[in-house]
Amino acid sequence: MGAMGDRTAVMLLMLLLSSWCLTAVTGYRGRGARGGGEEEEGGGSGRRFVLEESEEVVKAEGGEVRVVRGFGIGGRPAPMHIGFITMEPKTLFIPQYLDSSLILFVHRGEARIGWIYEDNMVERRLKMGDIIHIAAGSTFYMVNTGKGQRLQIICSIDTSESLGLGPYQSFFIGGGTYPSSVLAGFDIETLTAAFNVTTEEMDTILGARIRGPIIFYSDRAADQSRLLASCMQWKQLHKKGSLDFNDVADDEGGGEVQQEENKRWTLRNFLANLLGGQFYDRRKGKKQSPDHAPDAYNLYDRDPDFRNNHGWSIALDEGNYAPLGINDIGVYLVKLTAGSMMLPHVNPTATEYGIVLGGSAIIHLVYPNGTAAMKAEVSEGDVFMIPRYFPFCQIASLSGPFEFFGFTTSARRNRPQFLVGASSILRTMLGPELAAGFGVTEEELRKVVEAQKDAVIVASWTLPKIRGKGEDEPLLIRRMADV
Ligand SMILES: *[C@@H]1O[C@H](CO)[C@@H](O)[C@H](O)[C@H]1NC(C)=O
Ligand SMILES: *[C@@H]1O[C@H](CO)[C@@H](O)[C@H](O)[C@H]1NC(C)=O
Repeated sequence: MGAMGDRTAVMLLMLLLSSWCLTAVTGYRGRGARGGGEEEEGGGSGRRFVLEESEEVVKAEGGEVRVVRGFGIGGRPAPMHIGFITMEPKTLFIPQYLDSSLILFVHRGEARIGWIYEDNMVERRLKMGDIIHIAAGSTFYMVNTGKGQRLQIICSIDTSESLGLGPYQSFFIGGGTYPSSVLAGFDIETLTAAFNVTTEEMDTILGARIRGPIIFYSDRAADQSRLLASCMQWKQLHKKGSLDFNDVADDEGGGEVQQEENKRWTLRNFLANLLGGQFYDRRKGKKQSPDHAPDAYNLYDRDPDFRNNHGWSIALDEGNYAPLGINDIGVYLVKLTAGSMMLPHVNPTATEYGIVLGGSAIIHLVYPNGTAAMKAEVSEGDVFMIPRYFPFCQIASLSGPFEFFGFTTSARRNRPQFLVGASSILRTMLGPELAAGFGVTEEELRKVVEAQKDAVIVASWTLPKIRGKGEDEPLLIRRMADV
């Protein structure tokens, strides 16, 4: 989020004391109202649905976490917040669990993430474009493995399971003086009894000097210890002669074929361990790693669901990637070429949160009563919200392509309803009833509705057509003449 960083510099910084372990810094940018607010300056000119305010919830030597809070319509709670995690090279986000489920998207860099999945510890290596789900209450850590590269992650923070304390609440498992581990909340007597250690031994782990939740960390040690562990595991299996590592053979009986199969699986397991807990061929198929935790899903490996000369779009639902169904969240990615427009459309089943990854665009949003709710320019780092049912469109600026990524509040297949264009509902419903609904003849309506030959994403840089009074000159020229 380069642009976000720049903005941070000009932001008014306010120090807040957070409840128990973090010093939180809240930044304000722009003049947006918290949670969308009620204030509105002149209908379509406001930025009501651009979420201007980001809070710095973690600030450490090794990186930061900022959260942009979503808001609900009609007094309902926000379905999700959007988080931005930035980690410097060679850093570790120490083990913690949250009161919110996350869907992480690797915007830039590479990471290794480990978490508890159904009582097992699993690990995945993540690269740019990967998506992965971490359940609320599941302890996880994250390591920036990119060589000299910053790690940037954008995530949805599902609020449905949250305690309602801040945008989300961390419970650190690791920790020391800052942040402190949740373990530190117990009496020392309780801990020494529970751990069966002496007070001194207990102090060695609780008195550690951790400098914030994101710390500098050399990954090499971890790789070496994993290598060692894998080798030991491998040796042990051979010694025991038992190859029923994992539950590969649970239904079918022994047999030589099965033994061979097991051997192969174990070897794969071994290699998988070496490679950081996943198969080297994960991109080829949907096959899951032997630990049964889902692999990451790479958005950039997917063919666009829609594509034409003016841009493309990808929409990921639970049918494509099952973990999205757990918290009922969809993921999408859209790229518009310079000057292209995503035609006016409606999301009938979900509210959409968008994060601008590159370029700039104008977003038009319309109220149910047919007035403009917003017409705002957004650029890299901006977060916007499109309420369910509200018609909207995006027009990329002429200066370059516009790319945005986001989350929707439904994991079911979202069928956007286009109001305009070759695949629009106006086209599909074109007939005497629709014409009567506009108070025109069918022929008159047809002339307007069928003029656009393209669908979904179209060129918008042609100058607006002006009709009547014998005038056919472009709007731009006319305006200049007026001045
Ligand atoms: C507690 O630790 C002692 C050694 O320090 C050991 O002998 C004992 O078995 C341990 N008890 C339990 C229940 O693990
Ligand atoms: C349309 O609806 C919006 C939002 O409810 C409201 O703020 C606005 O005043 C309405 N405009 C008209 C002309 O009724």
